[in-house]
This record gives sequence, C-alpha cells and structure tokens, in this order.
Amino acid sequence: MVGLFYLIDMKLKIAIQKSGRLYDDSLRLLKECGIIISNGGNKLKTEAANFPIEVYFLRDDDIPQYVEDGVADIGIAGENVVYEKKKKLEVLEKLGFGKCRLSIAVGKNENFSRQWLNGKKIATSYPVLLQQYLDRQKISAEIHEISGSVEIAPGIGLADAICDLVSSGSTLLTNGLKEVETILPSQAVLISNKNLDDDRRSLVKKLLFRIRAVQKARSNKYILLNAPNEKLDDIIGLLPGMKSPTVLPLAIKGWSSVHSVLEEDDFWDIIEQLKEAGAQGILVVPIEKMIV
Ligand code: PRP
Ligand code: ZN
Repeated sequence: MVGLFYLIDMKLKIAIQKSGRLYDDSLRLLKECGIIISNGGNKLKTEAANFPIEVYFLRDDDIPQYVEDGVADIGIAGENVVYEKKKKLEVLEKLGFGKCRLSIAVGKNENFSRQWLNGKKIATSYPVLLQQYLDRQKISAEIHEISGSVEIAPGIGLADAICDLVSSGSTLLTNGLKEVETILPSQAVLISNKNLDDDRRSLVKKLLFRIRAVQKARSNKYILLNAPNEKLDDIIGLLPGMKSPTVLPLAIKGWSSVHSVLEEDDFWDIIEQLKEAGAQGILVVPIEKMIV
C-alpha cells in the first residue's frame, strides 16, 4: 500500500521563471503540451490538473541551483544562466524561445577591435562566461561584476565596456552603446537534475515526447494544393511530406489535390516553385502536434 500511495502522490517538480522574458513562453509551452495549470496571481507554486506535475515560479538566475539541488526536478532557464552557473545538470532540450545573445558592447563612437579590450574594465553579470571568452581571445581585461543595470556602467564611468544580454538591442541603443562581439547565443532550455529516480525519469520522458511534438509542429506547415494531373510528377518532386505526399482525385476530371508537410525554413522557396510548376489554390495551415 505504501508503494501505491507513493505512486499516486508523486509529482514532477518543474521550475519556471516567475516573470520576465521566459515566463509567457514557458507557460505557453506547458499549455501546448496539454498541461493545464492555473496561475493564480503571485503564487510560488501551483499544480497541474491533468498531469502529475507541480510548477514552481522562481527567479531565472536561481533555477539552475534549485534543479541541481533537487528542490526542482527539472526547469526551464536561459542557456546564458545555465552555463554561467556551471551547475551539474543535464540539458535535455533546446526550446526555441527566449532567444538572445550575450554580447560585448561599447560606446557607439568607440573605434573597437578585440585588442582594444586589453587593459579595459568590463562590467557584467556574467563573469564566468566573460572570463572564458577573454581567455579564448588571450585578452587581459578587468571584470567588474554587477548584478543589474549593467548598461549604465560606461555612461557613469564605472567601466569602459559591458558584457550583457541583448535581445532587441533597444537597451543598448537607449544607452548610447553598440554591440561589437557575441560571446554566446542563448535560448531557453529544459534542464534536469542528474539523479532523478525511475518514476520521475519516466515522467520527464513523457513530457519531452510532448515538447518535441509541439516543437516539430511549430516548425512545420501542412500544405494543400490543386494540380492538373499532367503536372503531378513535377509537383510531387518538390514536396517532401512525412512519408510522401498524399494525392487525392478532385471531382473535376484530370485534377488532383496534393497534401504534404513543409519545413518552415524552406517554405517560401518551395511555394514559389510549386506555383511555377502549375499548382493552384495553395492552402497553408498550422499543425498543432506532430509525431514522427
Ligand atoms: C536583459 C539585459 C538588458 C535587456 C536587453 O535583461 O540585461 O537589460 O535584457 O534586452 P533588449 O536588447 O531587448 O533591450 P533581462 O530582461 O534578461 O533581465 P534580467 O537580467 O533581470 O534577468
Ligand atoms: Zn535574470
């Protein structure tokens, strides 16, 4: 009985950012995975109604630590924080959102070269990643660690350059800075504690299966088109499909309807070629889940 009780009660604990750049997309991903949670206001913790998972809302910078310690089993955090904190974690999956980059920026009128950084003072909240970059480039500069509002450091004479996250670039622009070097491209990743028991591991596997289906669906489109039968070979030659395109006869003699799945990256190229090859009435629809 004890074992059974344990099974029923066991929940996977996931930590996500409580507010900020990853918050909305993290919740959306869980929702698209069919995990319904009510985030009633400022709660620290909530449970899903239909999946054995508990969601903890935490500061993004703290998430790697909580996952390493096992306070949370898994978490969603930016690669920038994960690699800066050098925690013993497994990175399970890149999630495709929260894209930004850790970059070096200097005053917009500065005549920058990497050598310019020698002997300079660089303000950052990412001393570990910055030091690794400086070592790789054999640059000797002084790192001035500050925890926030890094972008104002050059303006108030606290540093010559900064190393900070850049997303749209508007923070740099409003502070009269320009981005000169990217040291780490970053996006949200799913991280996991290294010592999960088998029950938790199998829940993580279930969740990952759903995440991958959602991700795959996002980067693919379902396409339907009409074509005269004599053009079918050319058109089918342009379409990959999951196995091969579906071809169905139309009510009008000599015409067919072709259905297929396209990767978003090749999308516009292939659409143009399809039109040239004689396709008509092309419809493109989003896919909700895709399991290959
Ligand atoms: C980062 C960074 C900049 C801003 C850049 O902070 O420190 O302030 O985002 O974004 P932009 O290029 O779109 O202007 P973040 O929002 O991650 O807050 P945090 O450092 O407190 O986590
Ligand atoms: Zn942060």
